[in-house]
Amino acid sequence: MTMQTLVLVKPDGVRRGLTGEVIRRIEAKGYTLAQLKKLTATREMLAEHYAEHEGKPFYEPLVEFMLSGPVVAMVLEGERCIEGFRSLAGATDPTAAAPGTIRGDLGRDWGAKVQENIVHGSDSPESAAREIGIWFPA
Ligand code: RTP
Ligand code: MG
Repeated sequence: MTMQTLVLVKPDGVRRGLTGEVIRRIEAKGYTLAQLKKLTATREMLAEHYAEHEGKPFYEPLVEFMLSGPVVAMVLEGERCIEGFRSLAGATDPTAAAPGTIRGDLGRDWGAKVQENIVHGSDSPESAAREIGIWFPA
């Protein structure tokens, strides 16, 4: 089966009008946009999506941030697109993320309780399958 990954343009990216710029970079890289939708997450979806982070100091701020506005959810397809999109996105901390990456070029620290870093990308085939099931239920 074709490799897939789940990408989110987070509420900060949508608010700042960066959805098109994120999609442009994905398409320029050569990945296929298999599915795309704009929606506002629910607490239930985020509890599943961020289950690995439950109990960490940034967990509650992260959930509040992700509920603060709509997100754009996408499924990308292409050989090695999981690691390829993580590479396009750059490091978690946008201050440290390399220039040339989405977070490095477009993100910064706003002094919030959680890093607002524009995009999410699945980090393994198992995460991708699980996350696609949350954001694009059959
Ligand atoms: P993502 O899951 O969103 O693709 O990002 P990631 O793998 O690079 O980062 P992860 O460790 O999975 O953390 C999930 C999201 O939580 C926020 N975060 N803030 N210390 C902090 O302020 C902090 N640590 C994590 C970020 O929004 C991160 O993307
Ligand atoms: Mg992660």
